[in-house]
Amino acid sequence: MSAQLIIPPIPALDEERSALLARLTSGLDVAALNWISGYAAGLAARGVPALATLPVATPAVTALRVTVLYGSQTGNAKREAERLHESLCGEAGEVRLVRADAYPMRELAEERVLFIVISTQGEGEPPDDARGFVEFVCGRRAPKLDRLQFAVLGLGDASYPQFNAIGRRLDARLEALGARRLFAHGDADVDVASVAAPWIGRACEHVRALKPASSPVIVADDVATGTALVRWHKEQPYLAELLVNQRISARDSTQEVRHLEIDLADSGLTYVPGDALGIRPRNAAVVVDRVIARLGLSGHESVRIGDEIRSLQDWLGGHRELTRLHRGFVQQHAQRAKAPLLDAMLANDDAMAFNSWLHARQIDDVLNEFPGEWSAGEFVAALRPLLPRLYSIASSRKAVGDEAHLTVAVLDNAGPFGAHRGVASGFLPMSRSAHRCRSSSSRTIASACRWTQRVT
Ligand SMILES: Cc1cc2nc3c(=O)[nH]c(=O)nc-3n(C[C@H](O)[C@H](O)[C@H](O)COP(=O)(O)O)c2cc1C
Repeated sequence: MSAQLIIPPIPALDEERSALLARLTSGLDVAALNWISGYAAGLAARGVPALATLPVATPAVTALRVTVLYGSQTGNAKREAERLHESLCGEAGEVRLVRADAYPMRELAEERVLFIVISTQGEGEPPDDARGFVEFVCGRRAPKLDRLQFAVLGLGDASYPQFNAIGRRLDARLEALGARRLFAHGDADVDVASVAAPWIGRACEHVRALKPASSPVIVADDVATGTALVRWHKEQPYLAELLVNQRISARDSTQEVRHLEIDLADSGLTYVPGDALGIRPRNAAVVVDRVIARLGLSGHESVRIGDEIRSLQDWLGGHRELTRLHRGFVQQHAQRAKAPLLDAMLANDDAMAFNSWLHARQIDDVLNEFPGEWSAGEFVAALRPLLPRLYSIASSRKAVGDEAHLTVAVLDNAGPFGAHRGVASGFLPMSRSAHRCRSSSSRTIASACRWTQRVT
């Protein structure tokens, strides 16, 4: 005769728990039943309800929420904002990266910590993607921001009269709206990293200090594009293979135009119509040799700038502008050349005349016209970093797959001392097919470089 196990009603348990107990014990052998019985007896002897041994939810710690907002025309500010975002991800509770035109303005009043990374364009204008944001913040509808803490990194070019006007304007305006400045705004010139890197470091220090203990980390990717952070950028260009390099203008045409096909195969780079490709050129060897000869140096001198040590030849070949002259260099050269004409030119208030004088010359011309003595280190330090040149992409990925095609008009201007070639349009035609050229194209650079009439 088989015995049926019936669990009698247990007054301490409600119906649901009785059913649970029946399910738990059903089919168990004697040893298991004895073990459960002993376990329950032990709990009863300690007078501790079983549930008390389960982990108890700890009171929620309010996460520190940080917004990194950027406005960028050609990708520089975007890249620095991405760096900041990446650095902050280990520091703050919730960090979001937002392009200015994707920022919901109604959230501004609720922000607690805001970092703005923004370039200046035109004659002191915001980049296109930040026009609305700048208008809103500087306009009458901007909210009081007395609970906000902020810092601004401006990107610009000191040769423009309105150097970093937008970064400075936002910095002053946020303070006027009652926000507390965490630390002074950064004024990055063309050598962006020398200002941006320490500025990012300071931002991280401040966030670390603001963070409540055990604040969880939540990372929000770029709200505007949803893209992951990129591998290739200006300082880390992709070494692309040049597949085709072909003259397409008529042989008797005075304007040389070339068709280039660049292989982006294993780069992971993508582009859409309107994107531009950044090419990191090298100065022509003949120009570098001429400059070194005019300085009376050998080219093998070792020069240290920051943490980087290179030969003078290497600095001038791949890392310093020799084709674009700028005021700062002329000022420093004037002290060495002791040429009254240079002094008069610099003292002249006619900015247009000075600019056209600058544009007609390259570094080599000035050294030739007004000889002056330089040490290798001082000379490199006086020059500006060699920037990538941006070319509108002439192909569609649907048609060419993992390639980018460019149409490049070779810049050949007659300067007062001979022909002047543009650094990149001189570099590209010299590159033979199946050679690798340094392309700094990336989703960030490319997609941020929607080709506008203002990017020339
Ligand atoms: C057409 C044009 C106009 C510019 N105007 C200014 C200017 O008025 N003031 C300034 O400081 N920088 C000016 N710049 C320099 C840019 O701000 C600088 O190159 C910056 O790094 C660009 O950053 P972005 O790529 O994020 O836009 C200008 C650049 C271009 C191409």
